[in-house]
Amino acid sequence: VGQHIALTPPMGWNSWNSFACNVTAEDIKSTADQLIKTGLAEYGWTYINIDDCWMKVPDVEHMEAKEKALLEPYYKANVDFRIKTKKVRFNEQELIGDTRDTGGNILSNKDFPDMKLLTDYLHKYGFKAGLYTSPGPLTCQRYEGSYKHEYADAKQFAEWGFDYLKYDWCGYRAVVSEPSLEEVQHPYRLMGQALKDVDRDIVYSLCQYGMKEVWKWGASIGGNVWRTTGDIRDNWESMSRIGFNQAGLESYAGPGHWNDPDMLVVGYVGWSKNLRPTYLSPNEQYTHISLWSLLAAPLLIGCDLTRLDDFTYGLLSNAEVIAVNQDILGKQASRIINENNIQVWAKPLSDGSMAVGVFNLGETPVNYQLSLASLDLPGKHTLRDIWKQEDMGNIETSFSVRINRHGVKLFKIK
Ligand code: GLA
Repeated sequence: VGQHIALTPPMGWNSWNSFACNVTAEDIKSTADQLIKTGLAEYGWTYINIDDCWMKVPDVEHMEAKEKALLEPYYKANVDFRIKTKKVRFNEQELIGDTRDTGGNILSNKDFPDMKLLTDYLHKYGFKAGLYTSPGPLTCQRYEGSYKHEYADAKQFAEWGFDYLKYDWCGYRAVVSEPSLEEVQHPYRLMGQALKDVDRDIVYSLCQYGMKEVWKWGASIGGNVWRTTGDIRDNWESMSRIGFNQAGLESYAGPGHWNDPDMLVVGYVGWSKNLRPTYLSPNEQYTHISLWSLLAAPLLIGCDLTRLDDFTYGLLSNAEVIAVNQDILGKQASRIINENNIQVWAKPLSDGSMAVGVFNLGETPVNYQLSLASLDLPGKHTLRDIWKQEDMGNIETSFSVRINRHGVKLFKIK
């Protein structure tokens, strides 16, 4: 772990928003196959990350009294939750049992029969492999977590060949419910140290939803990315609230350490195998990808890539849009203007130009006059429409744009 990795925001895919607890090794392989078959891999989508539910489920009923006392309330709450939301798909008995071998090494469940074989497969095709766990005794979905096994697990993940670890607070609520700053940092420091001690570069993703202003200290404990908010959902309310609330965090992002406003909810999503197209409208999806690119956010696709439609493919394969996100200067955009439902965000790029997004948060299309002075760009400039990859000619003092409801125009001003 260190500042020599994730020098641009990590790009790839994560299993949660599409497959949730139904994810299998086969899904991971077919995601890799699809990234290659569609050509998306060539645009830089590299990390293929397994989220929650690859482990086994501890047999709480048969635990020693002390451990049981710690886990039971949390375990019960999750079981109730799962029954309520009808998320239980499998014969749970099949997953319950010894979560670790006699040496204390964590075991994957039957849906992930051979982790090393799986990462070998990903590496062979040029991908990197990501994994998930929790600092708690259980994960969010009450599978085995890393509590009190941090060093052993870091070593195991490295031996398996993983290159990315998402460390999700959730299950740690069983250990401490209303944590102080120290208590929030403690488990992240611990795993940060454990990852530092293994002989492998592993991108370290702190998932604790922005508690105690993680952006202020995430990098200092070895974090490469940290979630700044709770979970994203595929609707305008959730996506826009999260995305446009990132204003003010720009000074904390840079090469090796990034703010993470959560995954991309385009394409077929649904948190189960009953997948359906995203509830975001096409304009809202342009806003989502444009904003995340300007924010220098990690770009982790959340959809089922075996059901990739042309529109989603277009969103994810625009080299000029991706170049805004991946620019080596590593600046996160600042919000320059916020008036009457119009927001203008600007991201300085390494070639001296500026990427500028003009967003319409309102309910009707608008014409907007943007002045170069407001962007602090005096003099003559050229304008390029980034999504269209089209030059728009020279501008002197201002230019006018028409923006759809919930839509965006993304420009490069040089
Ligand atoms: C939390 C995280 C999500 C996902 C789930 C898995 O909610 O924020 O991104 O990892 O847990 O259980």
